[in-house]
Amino acid sequence: MVRSPQHRITEEVVSSFSEAPPRLREVMSALVRQLHQFVVDVKLTPDEWREAISLLTATGHITGEERQEFILWSDALGVSMLVDALEHDLPQGATESTVLGPFFVPNSPLREYGANLASRPAGDPTWVFGRVLTTEGDPIAGAELDVWQNGDNELYAVQDPDAPDDHLRGRFQARDDGSYGFIGVRPVPYRIPSDGPVGRMLAATGRHPWRPAHIHLIVRAPGYRTLTTHIFDSTSGYLDSDAVFAVKPSLLREFVRRPPDDPAAPPGIVGDWYSVENDLVLAAGVAEEPMDDGRTA
Ligand code: BEZ
Ligand code: FE
Repeated sequence: MVRSPQHRITEEVVSSFSEAPPRLREVMSALVRQLHQFVVDVKLTPDEWREAISLLTATGHITGEERQEFILWSDALGVSMLVDALEHDLPQGATESTVLGPFFVPNSPLREYGANLASRPAGDPTWVFGRVLTTEGDPIAGAELDVWQNGDNELYAVQDPDAPDDHLRGRFQARDDGSYGFIGVRPVPYRIPSDGPVGRMLAATGRHPWRPAHIHLIVRAPGYRTLTTHIFDSTSGYLDSDAVFAVKPSLLREFVRRPPDDPAAPPGIVGDWYSVENDLVLAAGVAEEPMDDGRTA
């Protein structure tokens, strides 16, 4: 049988992994087979190959302590959500997960029940409340919620040189009945960083960089799988065209407008406000930290 040059090259590279540990051999062999098939399918030209190398080089150059452009590629190409979907085969009723995103900063300040996340005015005050529960509906006392969100200038504190470090982020502990509550602000849609190679891809393909308005939460409790998720504003723009494909219908929540004289207004809220109810249901399992991807912005 006469083998095509493509077949010969592919098989030679695949067999070069024959001594690798089994899982690494499986991953590298499949990567090479599919990468080679991709090059053949699109008949990649030398110019296009050079463009791809230049994009990867630019990705490396723009990545550092403050920015992780490789993960942004993963997010913008839907790979992060695909990995998340494969990892999270959840029991019935458990709250669904979604991307961590680049703006999570560890070690947010621990705050009391009802505390305000905002160190300065940052939008419409919003009472976010609910309970942390098991899939059987029992409270998970002491569960930790790690929360971060943007303000009405679109920015997370870590992106905003003028904002105090702890602005719009905090950690809370669920009370004995599983309840939690804090004052945030109504989040607004924002653009993923688009001044780098991912932005070039978005512009070249006619895609926009917007994400729908959301609040991020990580929920941790011993004996339960750590949940990394969002609450999405159910009336936000871009719910059907999230730049990172991270919207799940089960995570949409209604932000209810409340008048200033509403007797349920939490202390510290002045003027119109919103409330959003959000129970969080954890699956039993091992509490692991979300992927440490080394990015702080
Ligand atoms: C975010 O939600 O903060 C985010 C997620 C993925 C890419 C960019 C931003
Ligand atoms: Fe976000």
